[in-house]
Amino acid sequence: MDHNEQQETAHKPIKRNEMTRRQFLSYTLGGATAFMGMGAVLPMLRFAVDPLLQKKQSGDFIKVIEESKVTSDPQQVDFQVHQVDGWYESDPKMEAYIAKGSDGQVFALSPICKHLGCTISWSGAEAPDLYHCPCHGAQYSKDGKNLKVAPKPLDEYQVKIENGWVYLGPLQANTRV
Ligand code: FES
Repeated sequence: MDHNEQQETAHKPIKRNEMTRRQFLSYTLGGATAFMGMGAVLPMLRFAVDPLLQKKQSGDFIKVIEESKVTSDPQQVDFQVHQVDGWYESDPKMEAYIAKGSDGQVFALSPICKHLGCTISWSGAEAPDLYHCPCHGAQYSKDGKNLKVAPKPLDEYQVKIENGWVYLGPLQANTRV
């Protein structure tokens, strides 16, 4: 090896398998950015998905009328229900016809006609002592049995009596007919 070759070898940078400063900075900054990004995205993700994981609120009973005021003649009562469905909360107004049956039990029927969903009424001129639907003439007995037009009996509310008050719960299929 002559003198010139020796000099060149002495000045050649030694090649090492190490990370450059630029690589180190880009990895560090990339990692920190991803970490901060996750911190911002995770709460949003949780907010978006959380209502879907919650159980639907249902099964609540609403106090509607004193038991002593319920007679064998159906009377209409209005009440409000608080509903939570995912992100949507509402307080729809509900109606029921409450009466005492021949067995002495308090029961409550939905006023929604089982034909096409119009609102029925009790004991009009067209149908004394029956429920009557003004839309297509469906008729139901006091227990909600379908007598004309409608394919099914009126739905019935779950009923609970507590401390002299009548509470109404979710609707169910008619259990009286
Ligand atoms: S909706 Fe009641 S009879 Fe048709």
